[in-house]
Amino acid sequence: MMQTLTVGLGGRSYPIHIGSGLLGHAELIQKHVPHGRVAIVTNTTVAPLYLEMLQKSLQSIAVSNVPVILPDGEEYKNSDTLNLIYDALLKYRCERSTPLIALGGGVIGDMTGYAAATYLRGVPFIQIPTTLLAQVDSSVGGKTGINHPLGKNMIGAFYQPQLVLADTDTLNTLPDKELAAGLAEVIKYGLIRDLPFLDWLEQNIEKLLARDTATLQFAIARSCQNKAEVVAADERESGERALLNLGHTFGHAIESGMGYGNWLHGEAVAAGTVMAADLSQRMGWISAQEVARIRGLLERAKLPVVAPDLGADKYLELMGLDKKVEGGKMRFVLLKEVGRAVVEGNVPQQQLRQTIQACCGGVPAELPGSRRRPSGGGAHG
Ligand SMILES: NC(=O)c1ccc[n+]([C@@H]2O[C@H](COP(=O)([O-])OP(=O)(O)OC[C@H]3O[C@@H](n4cnc5c(N)ncnc54)[C@H](O)[C@@H]3O)[C@@H](O)[C@H]2O)c1
Ligand SMILES: [Zn+2]
Repeated sequence: MMQTLTVGLGGRSYPIHIGSGLLGHAELIQKHVPHGRVAIVTNTTVAPLYLEMLQKSLQSIAVSNVPVILPDGEEYKNSDTLNLIYDALLKYRCERSTPLIALGGGVIGDMTGYAAATYLRGVPFIQIPTTLLAQVDSSVGGKTGINHPLGKNMIGAFYQPQLVLADTDTLNTLPDKELAAGLAEVIKYGLIRDLPFLDWLEQNIEKLLARDTATLQFAIARSCQNKAEVVAADERESGERALLNLGHTFGHAIESGMGYGNWLHGEAVAAGTVMAADLSQRMGWISAQEVARIRGLLERAKLPVVAPDLGADKYLELMGLDKKVEGGKMRFVLLKEVGRAVVEGNVPQQQLRQTIQACCGGVPAELPGSRRRPSGGGAHG
């Protein structure tokens, strides 16, 4: 059973198809492939799992493909790797009408999207996200880009795909930690604008962790629906779209303070969301019980809820570097109520320091284990 949503952007509107087995249904993308040829950008982890399946599916509708297999990892989300994509596209003489298909997680999606935005001044782009984070967040909304040595996601473009194809079966091979990291963003939608969804998540979080197909599909569709509505209202983040950064100002500080790669982006967002909730309570907006409710759900999703103890000064310094800082003023996405987020520019330093002190008990020894790849960061949505 497939579900289809639409991102409503006038002439640039596009569908998101969500369901099991969609990699086998290349006919869904057929009308975007006028000349029977595509380039597939993927990486060394995803290619052995899903490239052949997609290629066979494309062959069945007489579409040929040029595969471009990149090294795996956030550390490769840079201009060198981007050039590898251009090299392959030029070598195989891909044309203006040749779509680029991103097959992978958010790193592949962001890089491929930027390559599509810039190659020959723009070629069609199709997202086939294979991580939960990419299916609920990064593949929708048209933010594309790469990292610069001086900052994450600093080079990029708004460039919408023609289509998003989220095959829930691909999540079966995803490591548990990556699944949980995606859930942090799913829970975010409930917190910022969809209270009934938050209630539903509280009922169904264990089923999601167990990767029950129908439950996952519902969560992905509901998340995409929320993201699509926000993006349709504010494509270029002049207002509402900023709310998608709940937990991210603190989260980015955690990620960069701990060294990219030690905390997955979603893990840092989870601990950052608890901090945002705590600060919302200190602003007098939500109750201690509500903060506990939020922490409880994130904990059940197997996400860290205690931020590392970097010291308040270090946090403030790291947050000062966040690119969401406008005109020197720190702006926070906070909860006016559970289910309704706002952007607040007037947070007293004292409250902020109290939040950092209260929420950052986790010493580096409590780290969920060091990892081989950097991740996350950069603003969302
Ligand atoms: N454009 C946006 O709006 C937006 C939003 C959020 C995040 N992002 C970006 O997304 C990136 C993070 O995305 P991510 O969390 O998907 O990380 P990722 O792309 O690095 O994927 C995580 C890991 O899972 C592997 N993987 C992917 N699919 C798999 C599968 N089905 N089975 C097994 N392994 C699989 C990947 O190869 C990688 O090792 C960051 O670069 C972030 O900046 C962008
Ligand atoms: Zn995020």
